[in-house]
Amino acid sequence: MLNTILVGAQWGDEGKGKIIDFLTEQADIVVRAQGGANAGHTVIVGRTKYILHLIPSGILRRRTTCVIGNGVVIDPIGLLEEIDGLKKTGIDPAGRLHVSDAAHMVFPYHKALDAAREALKGEGKIGTTLRGIGPAYGDKVDRTGLRMGSILNAKRFAEQLQEAIRRNNALLKSLGAKPLPVKRSMESVLKATRCLKPYVANTVQMLHNATAAKKRILFEGAQGTFLDIDHGTYPYVTSSNTTAGGMCTGSGIAPNRIDRVIGVAKAYTTRVGEGPMPSEARAVGDLLHGMGREYGATTGRERRCGWFDAVTVRQAAMLNGITDLAVTNLDGLDTLESIKVCVGYRLGGKRIDHQPSDLGRLAKCRAIYETFPGWQKPTDRIRTWKTLPLNARRYAQALAKLTGTKLSYASVGPARSQTITL
Ligand code: GDP
Ligand code: IMO
Ligand code: MG
Repeated sequence: MLNTILVGAQWGDEGKGKIIDFLTEQADIVVRAQGGANAGHTVIVGRTKYILHLIPSGILRRRTTCVIGNGVVIDPIGLLEEIDGLKKTGIDPAGRLHVSDAAHMVFPYHKALDAAREALKGEGKIGTTLRGIGPAYGDKVDRTGLRMGSILNAKRFAEQLQEAIRRNNALLKSLGAKPLPVKRSMESVLKATRCLKPYVANTVQMLHNATAAKKRILFEGAQGTFLDIDHGTYPYVTSSNTTAGGMCTGSGIAPNRIDRVIGVAKAYTTRVGEGPMPSEARAVGDLLHGMGREYGATTGRERRCGWFDAVTVRQAAMLNGITDLAVTNLDGLDTLESIKVCVGYRLGGKRIDHQPSDLGRLAKCRAIYETFPGWQKPTDRIRTWKTLPLNARRYAQALAKLTGTKLSYASVGPARSQTITL
């Protein structure tokens, strides 16, 4: 298998970073193709915990080349901070991290606009990560954005940036928000972009050369299927295509170059931010938060929790063409006597087996549950499929069956070694 796409099959935070890190052993290149610093991918290597926002999780393996593709929106200040953070732990991305010259940039005014728009929405807010994602993609689609390639011409870039800050300051004022100090904003961005110049490259060409040379590419999806701008629970979504197709447009790699699609799903469901979540359940939240788990990697917010929703993951399998399922956080359910799985929705007296795209209708959906016996044994020290408790194996296989996928990986802890391959 040469080229693999990995996507989140739920609402993000499925454990993509952990699985990517595990799979990077079998990859030459790891690519991020959409989203931005709204992502927070946790990887634990030995005793060190890394949270990656913009840089592909593959950076932690020293042989691997990493690419931030054209579909990502890049906050240059944040990216430089992330590079410096890695350097402090002894990992220098120079020479093996390449950033697309066609990727759009996120500036301080995008973040300010994100906050101002959320504040104006009041109760109807999306609950964004405030990383400027929506406004930056908005500029891209509006054709007023600035791309990474423009930093290579420093003089012209400074002029373009100054003009953009002024224009967006007027916008901020019109929204009742404080405009940004022009000089200080310029300085902070220019300081970062000066350092980032050596990372900028034509990554589309680079990836094509790599495929021609039969290099193995791993695409690291960010967010999750139901945060997709087209297929998610709109408007409570992010601003990029988080599904498998987004990895192709966001990197310039053609769909027929992809050999397999791995969907990552937790053994239960979580979501941060607003929007419907039919299998949300207090009991699951109390259990996981009680264990100190399920707090956001980017914002620290408490994640909403619920039972595994087979309706949504089945739909994710359809939208992404998932060939392999990775079930993570099985160990989170270790103590339960019985475990519920949402197998369908009831809407207006009828049973349905898909998510209605109309938000009002989705909000009215009630979960139909099937109950599975728990295993009530710790699984975090288990390393092989055969030695997992029988009920844990049955449960994980049931999730694959209910979602029409093949179970390929089961994860029983945040570390590399806590990953079971079937
Ligand atoms: P991502 O955004 O999909 O990469 O996921 P996050 O890193 O935001 O959130 C997943 C959380 O679950 C992180 O704290 C991971 O360290 C942790 N994690 C991943 N897989 C497992 C697992 O199988 N068991 C446990 N206990 N934690 C896991
Ligand atoms: P990873 O890659 C979970 C959510 C936000 C909010 C909505 C829009 O770590 O799985 P945005 O800032 O993108 O405009 O916010 O999307 N969101 C995520 N939720 N994991 C993520 O990334 C997310 N990225 C965005 O909470 O509901
Ligand atoms: Mg995350």
